[in-house]
Amino acid sequence: MIYKFIDDKGTFVVENPHRYNLYLPLTNQDGGLLSAISPHLAGDIKLDNDHFLTPPASIEDLRSNLLCRRDFFIRLDRETIRLSYPSKDILEAGFLYQKITKETKRISIEILNFVPYNLAVEVMRVSLRNRTKKRLKIIPTSFIPLYGRSEKNLRDHRHVSSLLNRIQLDKYGIYLKPTMVFDEKGHKINESTYFVLGFEDTARPPEGQFPTLDYFYGQGDLVNPDAIEKDTKPVNKKIPEFDGKEACAAFRFGARTLKKNESIEYFLIMGVTKSRDEIEKAFRKLNSPKKIEKSFQETKKNWLNYLSQVNFNFQDKNFNNWLLWVKLQPLLRKLFGCSFLPHFDYGKGGRGWRDLWQDVLTLLITEPHKARALILNNFKGVRIDGSNATVITKDGAFISDRNRISRVWMDHAIWPYLTLRFYLNKTADLNILLEEIPYFRDQQFKRAQEIELGFQQKDFVLRQKNNKIYQASLLEHLLIQHLVEFFNVGKHNIIRLENADWNDGLDMAASEGESVAFSFMYAHNLKDLTLVLAKLKEKRKNITLLKELSLLLDTLGSPVAYSDYRAKQRRLAQYLERTNKISGQKINIKVDSLIADLEKKSQHLSEWLKEKEWLAQDGFFNGYYDNQVRRAEGRLKGKVRMILTSQVCAMMSQIATDEQVRKTWGSIKRYLQDKNFPGFHLNTDFGSLYPALGRGFSFSYGDKENGAFFNHMSVMLAYALYKRDLSKEGFMVMDSIYKMATNSQAQIYPMIPEYFNAQGKGLYHYLTGSASWYIYTLLQEVLGLRFIWGDILLKPRLLSENFFHHHKIEARFPWQGKCLKVAFFRSADKKKPYEIKEIFLEQRKILSCAYGHLIKSSLLKSINKKEITIKIYLK
Ligand code: G1P
Repeated sequence: MIYKFIDDKGTFVVENPHRYNLYLPLTNQDGGLLSAISPHLAGDIKLDNDHFLTPPASIEDLRSNLLCRRDFFIRLDRETIRLSYPSKDILEAGFLYQKITKETKRISIEILNFVPYNLAVEVMRVSLRNRTKKRLKIIPTSFIPLYGRSEKNLRDHRHVSSLLNRIQLDKYGIYLKPTMVFDEKGHKINESTYFVLGFEDTARPPEGQFPTLDYFYGQGDLVNPDAIEKDTKPVNKKIPEFDGKEACAAFRFGARTLKKNESIEYFLIMGVTKSRDEIEKAFRKLNSPKKIEKSFQETKKNWLNYLSQVNFNFQDKNFNNWLLWVKLQPLLRKLFGCSFLPHFDYGKGGRGWRDLWQDVLTLLITEPHKARALILNNFKGVRIDGSNATVITKDGAFISDRNRISRVWMDHAIWPYLTLRFYLNKTADLNILLEEIPYFRDQQFKRAQEIELGFQQKDFVLRQKNNKIYQASLLEHLLIQHLVEFFNVGKHNIIRLENADWNDGLDMAASEGESVAFSFMYAHNLKDLTLVLAKLKEKRKNITLLKELSLLLDTLGSPVAYSDYRAKQRRLAQYLERTNKISGQKINIKVDSLIADLEKKSQHLSEWLKEKEWLAQDGFFNGYYDNQVRRAEGRLKGKVRMILTSQVCAMMSQIATDEQVRKTWGSIKRYLQDKNFPGFHLNTDFGSLYPALGRGFSFSYGDKENGAFFNHMSVMLAYALYKRDLSKEGFMVMDSIYKMATNSQAQIYPMIPEYFNAQGKGLYHYLTGSASWYIYTLLQEVLGLRFIWGDILLKPRLLSENFFHHHKIEARFPWQGKCLKVAFFRSADKKKPYEIKEIFLEQRKILSCAYGHLIKSSLLKSINKKEITIKIYLK
């Protein structure tokens, strides 16, 4: 790895970090300010897409563009030291800060950047020390470019929008408040102030400023600005010519003579706000070196506190520390969405539908008390046609599509169910199924096949004929999502791919494409729903459902021949037509009949998939049909076309037979495991573009959705293997992710990136669904701490390798207001997975029952302790 951990709190150091094009996210606990920072001090600072304090910077800008750096110049007699340039640098990073130390011949330098956990500002502290024996005269100047507008203005009226700039110079800094927000769709008066304040360690304000790029550069440029290299005088007052210019926070601090070993510190506080009071408040909290140091210490403590809610101790410094960063990733994804970091130069903030459900997955582990409300709110994004709004904003509102394109991802209904199932297992809260919530309604109809022009409604909720908001149980939402898809098939009687599935890159087969991969998962969910309903039946014999839904519960009225794809399509068309305007009437249905209906559907679909999509000659499953109605996988002109997703879904759904799973795993190793790296590719090299299936195949092979080591699918592969009782194989995949992430070729900080490319390099840092799934798999499958209707079933799948040559593994996690501390002990090395020898809950021995070792929640509740210990001895 390129870094070294220096403690057990996740702190790591990297020598000469400029060799890698890397970034670290900085933010506070509620994402009130979003920053990215590189070893060059590059990376942008913003609130959201429309409020960038510094120029938006994507990955290449970090090393190529000087105008996206937080810079600091020190003028010595004939020398200029520029702090964004490397000079024997060592980077230290922790939760959540970056510290760079560097040395020049005469000065030692330390630059610290962090966002206080409770404030929406970024703080930069520059410390300088004279390392010579002589006195050293320094002239310091800070330089933060100010952008002050929306990301889109970068290539949309960049100059014109600078004409709106108005600055105000203050004793401690600069406020940029553009007159308007420039947007030809509708200009608005701007209300936001972009600010940078600065002082030196005696709390002395800067002597003056160079507030515009014109003034700072003079006749020079950003490489040789006159403000640094010539004798340009800083100003204290605004002059009219500063209006309408690109602005910058360039503060000239007073010249100082440093004695031998003497040091001095400079501070900058940066942010964006609508309220000047907020700026003053933040400044009052940070206006002395002491206060800043205190805030820094508190920030570190706060993050570590957050991360300690769920704790793993594998007795291995590197793995433990690496896991700390992986545990932070789901929160980062929640705060940043899939935007706002240098690789993620797309999107508009907000989280996508899949991300949302992955976040709840971790939340259920770390902060379970928050999960119920979130689940209920998220289900309000479902439409009556089974599709859903695709983006949720920070404040929980739904948006049809972030780019206003009418489209549908066919896998979307899979994820809410998987997360809900985990919730039910964790809490046994069946009542959530009966909670009534509305549906999402927008201009998009019939799964994006029709658009209502002139759609006016502002509240985006579905109304029934009499204009009343239609409310229905969460269970009904779930049923609609799955029943609609069951009937939504293409010519092979497989569920249609529509505009893509989990693999966003399979987006060019909307009319004829079919996704076998996620059909497996629909069949799985339908079956699993019957188990949930069986449990519900203990409470309720009948439930009420939307009258129109009886069309899709066909076995209760007029059955559809499931092998006839046209018959299914006709039935779905009827349902979509009828629900264009719903009656609002509900009918009573026996839970038993519902179970029977779903059972029949899942059985039919499972059998169909298992038989028709198994490529017996190749030993794996076909997962897709393309827009020319052709099978996508298998052998073609001597080349093997194989996609990992197809195999993972077949295994994970529990539908593939054990024999098929064994063969599929063999094929995965043969065709998808890399020859040089331990990881598994998302697909084999199809060797050509594939416009009949998707853009994915146009990427260079080994990148992104074209055969990268795509971590989300890899971790789901591990999960599927564990689920199918292949612990060694599951471990191999989990371990491959860790090995690849910590390999020096990955060139990344500790974390799971979205993917590794063909050269093993990690790309798209921090914001990936893999982290949630990794933690989930670790807890549920590897450590085998499984929740079942509120109880805990202990089913560890540990191997010698999991113990890193030690004899104990510990895990701690919250459980109903208490803390469960579980310790696993083993004695000798073993080739096979360990089995349970005995288990103690506190002093009490847990005996094995029909399902294995089950700890009843009632038993846990009866223990009157805040921290409950479970000891598992393995043999
Ligand atoms: C990303 C997207 C995810 C999508 C996947 C494959 O994965 O966020 O929604 O399914 O690419 O196209 P992630 O970044 O979560 O690993």
